[in-house]
Amino acid sequence: MRNVTNSWHAFALAVLLGLLAMVLGAGPALGGIAGTKHDLSQKGFNTTQICIFCHTPHNANAYVPGSPLWNHNVTWSTFTTYASPTLNAVPGQPTGTSKLCLSCHDGTVGIDAYTNNAGLNFITGTALLGTDLSNDHPVSFLYDAALATADKGLATPIDDKYVDAAHKLPLFSGQLQCASCHQVHDDTNGKFLRMSNSGSMLCLTCHLK
Ligand code: HEC
Ligand code: HEC
Ligand code: HEC
Ligand code: HEC
Repeated sequence: MRNVTNSWHAFALAVLLGLLAMVLGAGPALGGIAGTKHDLSQKGFNTTQICIFCHTPHNANAYVPGSPLWNHNVTWSTFTTYASPTLNAVPGQPTGTSKLCLSCHDGTVGIDAYTNNAGLNFITGTALLGTDLSNDHPVSFLYDAALATADKGLATPIDDKYVDAAHKLPLFSGQLQCASCHQVHDDTNGKFLRMSNSGSMLCLTCHLK
């Protein structure tokens, strides 16, 4: 009797684990890119791969210095940058990872312009930033201790890799870029944000007021 009960339990457990695996397998991987708006693998763009739209292990394009094995056509637009009388930073033309984001989000390069595909589908709607960035948070400038001192309302970055000691918000060789606030591979916080902005937590990690 005892053995029968045990084996029934073992069977029931196996079924439950199987069901759990099916449920988890069907949903988007927690914290991953699959199933997010950056998962273009199910859009009929001639591939079911996820990473290929942005990366390749070989023959990556080197138009943007320091880009991570980039496999997407790069924008050649000239941008209007943010300006204001109280700004201490000097935002230049978008560089680095910001230029990579804008290679889909400025609307001049197709989102399907990966490897040797021309790219015929363009971003529309609110995710389209265009080439006028004067109404967007400034990017592509050095955010260091000197800037924090000049501004008087900014946290001093701990080094040229991170703003904060908890390593939530990265800098790229000291530069503030789109990817300082956004994590393209993870939509857990919505809008691909590096951390939740509830109570303006994101803003207040850099701005002290
Ligand atoms: C929509 C474009 C896009 C897709 C799709 C994408 N990435 Fe990225 N990835 C980027 C950008 C932009 C950066 C640079 C910004 C950054 O580091 O956050 C990056 C950086 C990286 C880096 C280096 C920095 C880091 O965070 O470790 C790795 C590794 C990486 N991606 C792996 C992957 C893998 C693996 C996949 C597929 C599962 C993938 N990426 C899919 C855009 C993408
Ligand atoms: C390969 C093209 C591509 C690249 C490169 C890319 N994105 Fe996107 N992104 C998209 C598409 C497509 C969407 C969905 C647009 C829509 O809703 O129609 C999107 C949506 C978003 C959204 C809105 C998400 C939401 O829930 O509404 C954010 C935020 C975003 N991207 C940030 C970034 C940032 C930051 C980078 C660079 C670090 C980047 N993206 C690079 C294609 C790209
Ligand atoms: C200082 C932080 C910060 C920087 C830098 C930043 N963003 Fe964002 N971005 C945000 C926040 C916060 C939101 C969400 C706003 C909301 O939900 O109302 C957002 C929203 C977005 C959206 C979604 C817009 C929508 O309404 O669907 C896109 C696309 C986007 N960002 C792309 C970019 C790109 C590309 C860059 C670089 C050129 C960039 N962001 C730089 C903080 C930032
Ligand atoms: C990763 C750090 C960081 C985050 C996160 C961040 N900012 Fe900034 N922000 C800066 C820096 C650095 C400047 C440049 C300040 C200067 O030069 O005076 C700036 C500039 C600005 C400016 C322009 C100031 C001026 O004088 O014209 C505004 C407004 C602003 N941020 C608002 C926000 C808001 C709102 C959020 C949250 C959605 C946010 N920032 C998130 C770092 C950040």
